[in-house]
Parts: sequence; structure tokens; C-alpha cells
Amino acid sequence: MRTHYCAQVNEENIDEIITVSGWVNSRRDHGGLIFIDLKDKDEVVQLVCDPADSAEVHKLAEDVRDQFVLIATGKVRARGEGLENPKLKTGKIEIVVDNLIIENRSKPMPFDLNDDKVNEEIKLKYRYLELRTKKSYDIFKLRSKVTMATRNTLDELDFLEVETPIITKSTPEGARDYLVPSRVHGGEFYALPQSPQLFKQLLMVGGFDRYFQIAKCFRDEDLRADRQPEFTQIDVEMSFCNQEDVIKVAEKLIYDIFTKCDFDIPSTFKRMTYHDAMENYGTDKPDMRYDLKMVDVIDIFERCDNEIFSSIASTPKKNRIKALKVPNGDKIFSKREMKRFEEYVRKFGASGLGYFQMKEDGLKGPLTKFFSQDDLDAIIERCELEIGDAVFFGAGEKKRVLDYMGRFRIFLAEHEKLNLIDNSKFEFLWVMDFPMFEVEDGKVKALHHPFTMPKSLDYEDIEDISSIAYDIVLNGTELGGGSIRIHKEDIQEEIFRLLGIGEEEANDKFGFLLDALKFGAPPHGGFALGLDRLIMLMTGSSSIREVIAFPKTQKAQCLLTQAPSVVDNEQLKDLSLRIRQTPTA
Ligand code: AMO
Repeated sequence: MRTHYCAQVNEENIDEIITVSGWVNSRRDHGGLIFIDLKDKDEVVQLVCDPADSAEVHKLAEDVRDQFVLIATGKVRARGEGLENPKLKTGKIEIVVDNLIIENRSKPMPFDLNDDKVNEEIKLKYRYLELRTKKSYDIFKLRSKVTMATRNTLDELDFLEVETPIITKSTPEGARDYLVPSRVHGGEFYALPQSPQLFKQLLMVGGFDRYFQIAKCFRDEDLRADRQPEFTQIDVEMSFCNQEDVIKVAEKLIYDIFTKCDFDIPSTFKRMTYHDAMENYGTDKPDMRYDLKMVDVIDIFERCDNEIFSSIASTPKKNRIKALKVPNGDKIFSKREMKRFEEYVRKFGASGLGYFQMKEDGLKGPLTKFFSQDDLDAIIERCELEIGDAVFFGAGEKKRVLDYMGRFRIFLAEHEKLNLIDNSKFEFLWVMDFPMFEVEDGKVKALHHPFTMPKSLDYEDIEDISSIAYDIVLNGTELGGGSIRIHKEDIQEEIFRLLGIGEEEANDKFGFLLDALKFGAPPHGGFALGLDRLIMLMTGSSSIREVIAFPKTQKAQCLLTQAPSVVDNEQLKDLSLRIRQTPTA
């Protein structure tokens, strides 16, 4: 139905008779001549329907409307002088149509396909129409290139692509499971995998040595701009390896993916410990496209004449006092603006936000009266302040201060007056040496997952145990994570015990894994990259929904198919289920 895609037509085809097919992007009637912009998957070409050439074609063209499906045959000619369109690849030519087929008609579009600002609900309801735009096509073309590059590189490195089950048993990645009721075993449920974690470990016990999968994962968790209930991971596992071996594979894979898609990135990435990331940037996924590093000033504040600060500073294990220097901040921000920043951090639990201005005659600001001149000088030196800078302070409980100062750092970087983020940059960072556990409300939880190898099990404080786990961060987003796994049964049992998972529960949930560890499990480790997040970052998309063909809303609904939906009683009966309450909308 075509001899050429629109993008293939150019000046070299002048005087050739060709056939193109696609959708009507726009139609203009210039009294006599009708111009149609015909678009196929990714490019537009101009058709001219001239009654002098073919009265029949011209008559058909009068009937044509937006998004009709056409097959057009005609001679390629150069556009007249001054009529070229430099914005189009095909802007120098047009096709004079002598045979036109209206292959299908279309209702008027429910929204303007060329308008970016249309309400998302309507776009998701008619997602197939949004996919018809060049912007969408380009995203999915890149996505396809990325998965192809993934397969090529991992194949070169001897990894086997293996599929693992979708209806299976719960895998603990920290979110709620999606459950699937069993018809044959009434009252019992499968769970959709939150990741292929346990199966990839079993493949290592199975001796496959190197596995990968472009794997669908399912997590019932609160959704955000970079989270979907159903998403895809590039999932990798390998045997007889240490952390460096895994990192090398991940870096090679990411490097190949980016370079094959024409992005320039380094072949190895910077590294930072979890501890340094938290202390210096207040997050385990710092955006390294800008600096703004926090500085510890708790020892200086301990000597100050303000009881609140000195008492916070007297317990440095539990508390933090962090300074954040804003270069030229005093010149850029008014006093009122600086006061207003306090409102921002209060939203995240700060009780206040102190600041100093670096003036020609030294530090100024509401807090200076509490400090000796020596200590003011110490602040200037520690924070490396220059005239015109401003410096902000957060003081209080460690976790809270690190969190709101970390958020404040991002807020400042994005502030229109500072604009510190270079969107054309890709800054990768390995965050390493994660703690094995975190304690929340007295409950011990695995920070990664419970199959992560601890560095050692000698400890005084359980939160001091670190693990051989690493995250890969790109521009402040967690792109992936992984670890060296526990391959010995006794260590795995000990970790379950520390997590408060009793023997019975461990056997019930992961007995098959514990069993497998008894049969010669090799040392192994791996990682998983979030494919959707990767594509989001590569394409500069603001929402993960743009890079998933048929995404769900923030409320986990598919507006196109209306899923989830009510099922009939027969189906429920088959599954031994009864609905106790009518679901609320
Ligand atoms: P983790 O839970 O860190 O690790 O997931 C790996 C990566 O998957 C992506 N991701 C998501 N993307 C979109 N929507 C979501 N709801 C979502 N949740 C996670 C992120 C994340 O970094 N089994 C381990 C990996 C391993 O240890 O090998 C795992 O799943 O980009």
C-alpha cells in the first residue's frame, strides 16, 4: 500500500511516481488547490490535489477530513520558491496526487492531537490517538532501541534470556501484592511478582550462570510521577561474581544503551557511600547535576549562646545541624524570600530555617548575636562563604533534618532565580554500602530485600550492619538497584530471624528458597534497572505514563479499558469469592 514512508521522500525522488499512506494531519483548501499534510508513523508529506491534474482526485479531497486514512499516488515535484517548509524533513518537495483512495474515515478527534496541554484523562481514554503523534512514536522507537541494545549487549556477555512466572507466590519487595484467585484451589491465591528476585536466584542455583529478563513487575503501592502499578525491569543475575563484577556489567549495559541511542555518557560512573549521600545531600539518590552540598556545623553550634541550638547540638548521634550554602544567595534573594523558604521546609517537619548573609563586613542575620566572632569565622571557613553568599541552617532530629534539608536543596536548584539544573546532562552515581536494616517504630525492616548479603553480622547496633547493596542513580532518580545475595542457608536464616520472621513463616513464605540454598547454591548477585524510568529520563518525559503504551492513572485505573471493573456473580462463584461490600468509585 506504499512505495515509500513519508520520511523517505526527498528531492532525489523528484519526477518519480510514488505511493504514500497514512492519516490526514491537516487539510487546506486554497480555492482550487487542496493541500493535505499526510502523516504516517513519524513524518509528514504534503499532497497537492489540483483539479487541473485530476478532477476526480480533487473531488475526493474535498470530502477529506482530519485523521482520515488515505493512500495517495502521484508525482514528486519541488515546492515553488518561497513555499518550502524548513521544519519538515520533506519540506522541499510535495506530491501531486493522481490517484487517491480514502481507505477509512474518522470521527472528529476528541482532542487536538497537536496540543500538549490537553487534559490527561481524555488522552488516556483515547490513548491510541495520542500514540499516533510523532512525540509518542519517537518515545516508543527509543524504548524499542533500548530493549534491543539490552538484548544485544547481554547476549554478547553470555547472559541467557529466561522468562519467570507471572502467576506465582509473593516476593517481598516491600509493596502490597496484586493477588489472583485460584479457581481450582478455591480460597487460595497466586500473587503477581513484585520482581523476579527469587526465581532469578533459583536460576543461579540451577546453574545457568548468567540470566536476564525484560520483566514485567507488579506492585500495589502509592503511585507517583515515576511509579506505575505495572512496570518493566531489565533484570540481571550472575554467579561466581563479586560486587565489582556486577557493577562492570551494569556500566557496560548502560553505556551501550546510551551510546546506541546517540547519547554521550562516561563508561564508568562516580560512586558514593549511602552514609555520605545522606549526610551531604539528605537523600540516597542525590542529583549530581549540581553541587549544593550540606555541611555539618553541629560542633560550632554547640558553643553558641542559644539554648535551643546548643541543646540540639549536645546529642550529635541523634541530631544534626546542617548548613547549605547558596552561592550569591544574598545577592539573588531578598530577606522576604529567605523568610519564605522557611514555609517550604516547615511542610516537611522543620521547626524553622536559620540563615546568614555574607556581607563585606562579615556574617549578618538574625542569628549572629548568639555566636562569638571566632565561631562566625569558623562558619565562614567551614562553609567556604564568599561575599554575596547566603547560608541556611536546619537543626533537629537527624532523619528529619536530612530529609527537609535534602528537599530544600532540590527546591533551591529548581528555583527560577538559581536554575541550577542542566537538563541536557546525564549524571550517573552509584550509591553503595546501604545499611542492611532500618528500624521504624521499633520494627526491623530490610532496606533492600532480605536476600541481600550483609558485610558482616558482628554488630552493636543493628542499624550499623551494612550490606553489599548498591543503587544506581541518574539525575536524582533511582534508576536501579541490586546486591550480592546470601547463598548460604545459615546466613539467610539469621537474617530472617533479625527481621522477626519466625521459622514457620520463613518456611511458609520462602521455604523453597531455603531448600534450594541447601543444594549447592553458588555465590551470586545482580541488579535490576527500571526500564520505564530509564526511558523517561532519556526522553525528558515528565511522567512515566508517557513512556508506557497503555498506562494506568495515579489511581491505578486504565481509562481506556475501564479496568479494574466489576465481574459477574458466576465468575465470582467459580473463584469461590463473594463481595461483601459494593466497591466504591
Ligand atoms: P527495586 O525494588 O529497587 O529492586 O526495583 C528496581 C528498579 O525498578 C524500578 N521500579 C519502578 N518503576 C516504576 N514503577 C514502580 N512502581 C517501580 N518500582 C521499582 C526502579 C527501581 O530502581 N529485585 C530487586 C533488584 C535486585 O536486587 O536485583 C528490585 O526489584 O527504577
